[in-house]
Amino acid sequence: MKNFTSVEDINDLQSMIKKALEIKANPLAEPNKGNGKTIGLVFLNSSLRTRLSSQIAAQNLGLNVLMLNAAQEAWNLEYNDGVVMDGGTVEHIKDAIEVLNQYCDIIAVRCFAGMKSKEDDTTESILSQFEKHAKVPVVSLESATRHPLQSFADCITITENWKQEKKPKVVLTWAPHVKPIAHAVANSFTEWMQALDVDLVIANPEGYDLDPNFVKDTPIVHNQDEALKDADFIYVKNWSSFEDYATMPEVKEDWLLSLEKLKPTNDAKVMHCLPVRRNLELSDEVMDSEHSIIYQQAKNRIFSAQTVFSEILNELK
Ligand code: CP
Repeated sequence: MKNFTSVEDINDLQSMIKKALEIKANPLAEPNKGNGKTIGLVFLNSSLRTRLSSQIAAQNLGLNVLMLNAAQEAWNLEYNDGVVMDGGTVEHIKDAIEVLNQYCDIIAVRCFAGMKSKEDDTTESILSQFEKHAKVPVVSLESATRHPLQSFADCITITENWKQEKKPKVVLTWAPHVKPIAHAVANSFTEWMQALDVDLVIANPEGYDLDPNFVKDTPIVHNQDEALKDADFIYVKNWSSFEDYATMPEVKEDWLLSLEKLKPTNDAKVMHCLPVRRNLELSDEVMDSEHSIIYQQAKNRIFSAQTVFSEILNELK
């Protein structure tokens, strides 16, 4: 594995999940694998889980970890080429990446969607600069359109919770929010579920259909109750409109998941990537019920990251 920015970067999802579960059973099995190597964890946006799980994963492999909370601690970055930097920006992104090349054997970066330009976000205007200028492997810690380490952890979690022969029915359901939220988690979950070969249904209100390049032939249902029927797993997430980019078309129906809404499901397990706004996106009664496997998901973030870092280390001399 060279880079890890989407499901396209792995050859065999089932073998990756198997490896992750082996790592989970014995996380300190390769304590020296990364000795003498350095991973830079660069955060252009906030994080709790990604920051800490990536650090634990790297340390479990003996990697030296450089943590840069760039938004708070680094120079104000310029992303546009050819500009006279006589304004508020102090360092060009390509110079910052060239310097990271001098210090790191792996560069991992979090760079959210700006939510201002559909073109900039769908073309990954920041991640693409890392892919262009980095001379070492690049790992996405969530980009404008995808959150692959989260989605891989979600695949691990579903595998742990599904022992039947038949494919599970997995429903990705939209949830309410107070501000426009990016599409990365929902897009990414969709493409990883397509690779996991489950029966995936996306439920969202009119006006909130995801990017067709991610949806492909996955059914979209605009009635949440209809979508939830017989569900085995329910993945709760808010996202803003893709079509009328980053807006929040009015939604009249109640999309907040409750225990009542879970009754027609197959005793479904409920998932969320966190952070979650309780009683806005997801009710206390569901969050704190036996249905929730949300903290298990969060724990599996360690093993998704450790599996990816371990695979990348296999390729480094
Ligand atoms: N799920 C997730 O990526 O959490 P953080 O934003 O806290 O890293």
